[in-house]
Amino acid sequence: MWKFDLQDLEELQPMINRLNDKKAKLDSSRPLPNSALQRIKTDLSLEWTYNSNSIEGNTLNLQETQMVLQEGITIKGKSLREHFEVFNHEKAIDYLYTLVKESYQLRGIDILSLHGLVLRSIEDDFAGRIRNGGVRIVGANFTPPNANKVSDLLDELIDFVNNNPLGLNEIVLTTIFHHKLVWIHPFFDGNGRTVRLAMNLLLMRRGFPPAIILKTDRKKYYEALNQANKGSYYKLCLLMLQALERSLNMYINALPGNSYGDYEPIASIVAEPDIPYGQEYVSLLARQGKIDAHKEGKDWLTTKKAVKEYIINRKRIR
Ligand SMILES: Nc1ncnc2c1ncn2[C@@H]1O[C@H](COP(=O)(O)OP(=O)(O)OP(=O)(O)O)[C@@H](O)[C@H]1O
Ligand SMILES: [Mg+2]
Repeated sequence: MWKFDLQDLEELQPMINRLNDKKAKLDSSRPLPNSALQRIKTDLSLEWTYNSNSIEGNTLNLQETQMVLQEGITIKGKSLREHFEVFNHEKAIDYLYTLVKESYQLRGIDILSLHGLVLRSIEDDFAGRIRNGGVRIVGANFTPPNANKVSDLLDELIDFVNNNPLGLNEIVLTTIFHHKLVWIHPFFDGNGRTVRLAMNLLLMRRGFPPAIILKTDRKKYYEALNQANKGSYYKLCLLMLQALERSLNMYINALPGNSYGDYEPIASIVAEPDIPYGQEYVSLLARQGKIDAHKEGKDWLTTKKAVKEYIINRKRIR
């Protein structure tokens, strides 16, 4: 089995606990108000499609993606391929939802099916098929394994996910799966989109919302993958946790009587007289996962309550 360094992940435990608390809060609030639920689900699917395709180089923006999906409009100046990428990704999400249930165990065939949907009508010769030749990843610090190893490596990875021999937390397990799959790079193309679908299948079967890696974090994401190639999962776990916290917060915000407080831009929170920290420091705490926060576009949002709790906890430690 693979070797990796998970020691520094201990630092992320408070963040993992916070996310698990939020998930428990959501679970205990079910059934959630139906209208809000539908809206968030639609918003998340749209963002997921936009961001995942955009990371891959698709040039449609969020609004254009929405117009294509919700109104069936074609966007002037954009290729047929880019339109297919949008439709296909949405179809892949629909398919994924049919698989989500608590007892779900990862199967190779589901990874192939997701990949098949992602590349349908775009690269039909490769869609749903493992590569039979070498690949390179631009900017990566390694070359993916030889094509004749792919099938065995995939089986090994699927066993690892299903048996969880190290008893890892679900989010950490999913992060390792994410990295190992793109490291194996089983396909000629579409690896990134496929793994970002499959990782969410793993999270959603446990009742988490989908985690969406943002286009604006693309550079950070690739750096984190390079770190993971060297055996260190800290950065990739942090990115996954941040992505997940953002989606959790969308649901938390919609809860009647939400006890977490209102998420506001950090600038407006530090402007309050009873907050003794400046914008830079609170932003740092947010980026490090030390306070309840999430990114919206390029801005971080947090709550007054989260900052105040941090102050109290710090005093306790001293
Ligand atoms: N340094 C790296 N180490 C490991 N994996 C990487 C690295 N850089 C990128 N990747 C992964 O490879 C994916 C790109 O592979 P590929 O082009 O087959 O997928 P795609 O779906 O077409 O594009 P994308 O993944 O960018 O959406 C990235 O999304 C990322 O998940
Ligand atoms: Mg590609």
